[in-house]
Amino acid sequence: MSKKLSTQPLRGMEDYYPSDLREINWIIDTIRDIADLYSYEEFESPSLEPIEIFAAKSSDELVNEQSFIVEKKKGEKLILIPELTPSLARMITAKRQELKKPIRWISVPTCYRYERPQKGRRREFKQINMDILGENSLYADLEIFNIIVDIFSEFGATSKQFQIYYNNRRFIDSVCELILQVPKEKIPLVYKILDKADKMEDSEYEKYILDNFQNELIIQGIYKLKEATSLDDILNKFDDISDDFYESKGYQELTSFIQLLKDAEISEYCTFSPGVVRGLDYYTGIVYEVFDTGKENVRSIFGGGRYDDLLTLFSDEKITGTGFGMGILMFSLFLKTYDLIPEEIREKDYTDTIYISSINDDVTNFALKLARMIRAEDFPCIVDYRFSNLKNQLSKANELGVLIVLIIGPKEMEQNKVTIKNMRTEEQETIEIGSLIDKIYDIIDESEP
Ligand code: HAM
Repeated sequence: MSKKLSTQPLRGMEDYYPSDLREINWIIDTIRDIADLYSYEEFESPSLEPIEIFAAKSSDELVNEQSFIVEKKKGEKLILIPELTPSLARMITAKRQELKKPIRWISVPTCYRYERPQKGRRREFKQINMDILGENSLYADLEIFNIIVDIFSEFGATSKQFQIYYNNRRFIDSVCELILQVPKEKIPLVYKILDKADKMEDSEYEKYILDNFQNELIIQGIYKLKEATSLDDILNKFDDISDDFYESKGYQELTSFIQLLKDAEISEYCTFSPGVVRGLDYYTGIVYEVFDTGKENVRSIFGGGRYDDLLTLFSDEKITGTGFGMGILMFSLFLKTYDLIPEEIREKDYTDTIYISSINDDVTNFALKLARMIRAEDFPCIVDYRFSNLKNQLSKANELGVLIVLIIGPKEMEQNKVTIKNMRTEEQETIEIGSLIDKIYDIIDESEP
């Protein structure tokens, strides 16, 4: 006998059976409804892109170590998108003259990262992205935070279960330049070190810092930033902070944003976290990651921030953007942890499906004609093709949980009638085809609690 092929998907990839997909679509549809309330429009871009648009400003690690690269033609490197933001930047720049700003867009791409598969991380995954472009003000960042809070609240989650951990890269720039005296060109290295902290063992982390910085003030400063729990905590950890620091854009922007969160009454969902800087190079302002506050799900659910310069990859015109990517897998793990997914979501509801059973196959055409008529009235309809064993057909209908079965045989066909059976009450009657739709509505209305 020949060896049979594996039925398993590739490592890190997932098959979505209908019940899995129902859950995912329920999450996406609920978030699309929230996006509608904020007037976001949906777009799509290709899964394959030229590698250059990611290589320039995403992250070396993402592009060189974690990407699926396709080389079909010599000298041409394509990438299966590891994230969406550079594609969004490309699309916006291409139509920057005609698009009315600010632009609010949502997309649900499938992304690819060659990562070690683990809880909440796959090599192929779906993300929901929402971004605002062409709006400089901190109110755009605030809007994104409000959306995140609305999303969690809509699913029934509370501030005890999730937090948006936020920071501002310009604030870290100000600390680096005006307190720690880090040379400007080495600031990205500070970001990288802060971003790596949670991903390394203590000893490995210490070595990583020492390999990159020798200056004790800077080394201690990085530790202080990592450990600080509030803005006051940071300010107390450093001596002799100059007025220049307090006047800097980074400090001013961060304190204004903290005030905006208070005024919007969403502070309870947000924690200032100076160690959060994000691993992607293009961020410039407010950055954030959303985590489960419990121990069950340790990886980020959302990640995002403001990117002022990403679009300059494609033109000289500066258009700023801010937004997030949410991993649907991580979000559904979070919802499961807190029991926020109703059981019925996973099962298809057949109650309103009209089930047609036929006594024999002489009535096939009549059955199919009836089905067309019922679907034309927007009722889902299943025709049982076993055309003989009525008992089996009715028990299948019962198994599915349908409310109405139509039974037809040669007599019904001859008289242009149909026998309609209410599966809950077991009542049945034979009626004219002309009154069938009204009768269906009656039975559905009667059965509603
Ligand atoms: P990111 O932090 O790389 O940001 O990804 C955002 C979210 O995508 C993560 O928080 C996580 O839930 C999910 N995610 C990332 N990698 C995986 C994976 N291997 N498997 C499953 N889920 C994953 C970005 O991608 C930015 N482009 C987001 C953004 C939009 N920034 C501004 N606008």
